[in-house]
Amino acid sequence: MGKSYSIVGLLLTGVVVLAVVLYLPTTSGSDSRAPYAYWWAADSGKTLAGTSDYPNSDGSFRLINDAGELDTTGHPFFSSLGPNGRACVTCHQPANGMSLSADTVRAVWEATRGEDPLFATVDGANCPHLPRGEEASHSLLLERGLIRIAVPWPPKGVTPDFTIEVVRDPTGCNTHPVYGLNGENPHISVYRRPRPVINLRHLTALPNGVAPHDKFLYNDKSLLPKDPETGKFVSLQLMSDGSGLTLRNQARDAARRHLELTRDLTEDELVAIVDLEERLYGAQGIDVFGNDLDAAGAPPGLGPRVLVTGPAGYLGNNAINRVFGDFSMWGSPDAHPEGLGEEERLWRESVARGARVFFERRFLIQDVAGLTDKGLGNPFHRSCASGCHNTTLMGMDLAPGFMDLGLNNLPWANNRPDLPLFRIVCDKDAAPHSYLGREIYSHDPGRALVTGKCAHVGFTMTQQMRALSARAPYFANGSAATLRELVDFYDRRFNIGYTDQEKQDLINFLSVL
Ligand code: HEC
Repeated sequence: MGKSYSIVGLLLTGVVVLAVVLYLPTTSGSDSRAPYAYWWAADSGKTLAGTSDYPNSDGSFRLINDAGELDTTGHPFFSSLGPNGRACVTCHQPANGMSLSADTVRAVWEATRGEDPLFATVDGANCPHLPRGEEASHSLLLERGLIRIAVPWPPKGVTPDFTIEVVRDPTGCNTHPVYGLNGENPHISVYRRPRPVINLRHLTALPNGVAPHDKFLYNDKSLLPKDPETGKFVSLQLMSDGSGLTLRNQARDAARRHLELTRDLTEDELVAIVDLEERLYGAQGIDVFGNDLDAAGAPPGLGPRVLVTGPAGYLGNNAINRVFGDFSMWGSPDAHPEGLGEEERLWRESVARGARVFFERRFLIQDVAGLTDKGLGNPFHRSCASGCHNTTLMGMDLAPGFMDLGLNNLPWANNRPDLPLFRIVCDKDAAPHSYLGREIYSHDPGRALVTGKCAHVGFTMTQQMRALSARAPYFANGSAATLRELVDFYDRRFNIGYTDQEKQDLINFLSVL
């Protein structure tokens, strides 16, 4: 009797525990089928509303098309222009902040048994020679949301000052006789996350207001490049390696690469794509407690509305012009509206503290090539916002910020067995990488594949920080699966020593951007 009683007791305890677990608000995607409900297939003929909200585990992402409602039938961004059935929207999904989350990839895989054009082997497989439809062939896309980027080697018109060899080739692509580095048409395959096609007006704006930033790179004080079509300076903020100088250029290249289009986009197609891209704005629109972040009373830098009207290309500064604005209305207990629930009060205060951590909490930024080797000090005692994430409303580096943060190059990067590993040896008379010298091991040489300079190995471009909750994993190579992993990376990399509370506050803050 005693025994069966205790079993009943155990069962009851189990039920209670289960009930508690279910009651707690979840902070990570729970229903893996849900993302497929929002999947936007090529040629779907759907209408894009002027404003649409797409639920995610932290609330909802809100997309604004500033031109108003759009019937997407026949629109080149939404149409499969090439032979593989994909459109731009295939990798730039409205529900995912116009990027593509790994959750969505998994859901599409399951719903279509891998047949959706997203999985075209050209770059939706680890390498085009792998059998389509087998999970192992698409593991980088399924697990990390990564797209293969094949870069011709050496780059056109450049004589590199380093040699590159393949040390490890888990995808088989870099040593492949057709696709590899020693093939007839040598290419280097790296794997990168789609970047969000929102708020691009802010990305393409030239730095404003503060000479001598104006039209100069911080890094080496060289002039920004010019758009060959118009002769005007460009911001150099597009793509993780800065290769897409303008939206027109980028669209032409994307159509050939990802859509396998064998002709150039027509002028009408280009105009329609770029016009749309310049009018799409997005950010988290509703937080985990259901607050509308565009509404009066919420911190004014949140929600996408302010991005539509806000000035582009301004340096944030803690004293008068904070990168994401003022959070004090959520931070002070006196400011809370009457009757606000305890949990929500705690949440708002946590987000406001997270904003302060982001703006003010300084740490020692050390050995970041492209940043701490420029005479400003190494280490450089700064916060997230004052160190690098300094563009108002957006959070990328206005500079523009090419740097080796430690995401691609060993030893700071995790030595990931799923990614290729290259050994780079710099020529004797070349300027070396500031902290790694003349022999560098890298998963993705990044900017160096464009400039051919070994000093740039592993450099990537800081990216905008909006719509984070809609588009995990993070960083150009998808190395952080969650916001927690992203914060942990910085904590480890720079020995910051965040408390658990600071980490959670920072994560909550990032989740509302
Ligand atoms: C197979 C997936 C895929 C398709 C299809 C695709 N893209 Fe992309 N897109 C990417 C990836 C990956 C990147 C980031 C590459 C990098 O950082 O080097 C990107 C980046 C971009 C960016 C740069 C955004 C930024 O913040 O830097 C723009 C703009 C863009 N794509 C537009 C387009 C357009 C227009 C099309 C259709 C012609 C398209 N894309 C089709 C995967 C895709």
